[in-house]
Amino acid sequence: MTHGDTGPDDPRRHLEQARSALAGDGPLVVLSGAGMSAESGVPTFRDARTGLWARYDPTELASPDAWRRDPDTVWAWYRWREHLVARAEPNAGHLAVARAAEGREVVVVTQNVDDLHERAGSPLVHHVHGSLFAHRCETCELAADAGPAPEDPVERLAPPVCRFCGGRVRPGVVWFGENLPAAPWEASLRAIDSASAVLVIGTSGLVHPAASLPDLAAENGTPVVEVNPGDSGLGPAVTAHVRATAGDAVPALLQR
Ligand code: APR
Repeated sequence: MTHGDTGPDDPRRHLEQARSALAGDGPLVVLSGAGMSAESGVPTFRDARTGLWARYDPTELASPDAWRRDPDTVWAWYRWREHLVARAEPNAGHLAVARAAEGREVVVVTQNVDDLHERAGSPLVHHVHGSLFAHRCETCELAADAGPAPEDPVERLAPPVCRFCGGRVRPGVVWFGENLPAAPWEASLRAIDSASAVLVIGTSGLVHPAASLPDLAAENGTPVVEVNPGDSGLGPAVTAHVRATAGDAVPALLQR
């Protein structure tokens, strides 16, 4: 124990353990959640309850039920989020993750439906909860171009029609109760299996199966570092918890 160290929960000890787990040039998996994009100004579901949308519960809008009941409201809400993300810029955390891939293999597994990891320059990003920009037909599943999102939010907007089969175009995101897209999920499992370290950034660790990835890493004996200013549901898989924001902690942790 060093002078002033208060034991296993001492933040300095966690920082040292985090640095040593992330050192080296073995394959790194970065698992990101909504907190990763918070400093880019992308509103989390909770923050999204403003203006036109104050009276809607976003967790209810993100559901197959809401889509069946009221597709125009759900479509308008997602198009508004698309517009917000298009105006946002990657933050220092996204940029540091992208830079780290210059010296080692870095696989980003993100629960976020924004494209800020890609725009920061990360070469390998798996979107396990889909993407705001990958609209598809709900009937034939083919990709659909929805055109630019409206500049001003509107409360209702009719979804376009698929040009191949006439079905309704839906947001390309994974709603509560839906399966994860197979290809990014399987690629994420493979990446976890060969990782030398896992860095989890800004997720509540409550939504499965994404939240089980740190456990799988821990079962392999792979160190798991968490960056989150608050508590999460990740549990004992986490070997070091750095209590800071993505923009503050990630550049320092991944610096060579
Ligand atoms: N830096 C790092 N972490 C942060 C920051 C920040 N600047 N700001 C907030 N956080 C943390 C919070 O403490 C919280 O633990 O980010 C986490 C965000 O949690 P959620 O909003 O629940 O986001 P997430 O874990 O990504 O949600 C998982 O649930 O809503 C569905 O499908 C959606 O992909 C989403 C999934």
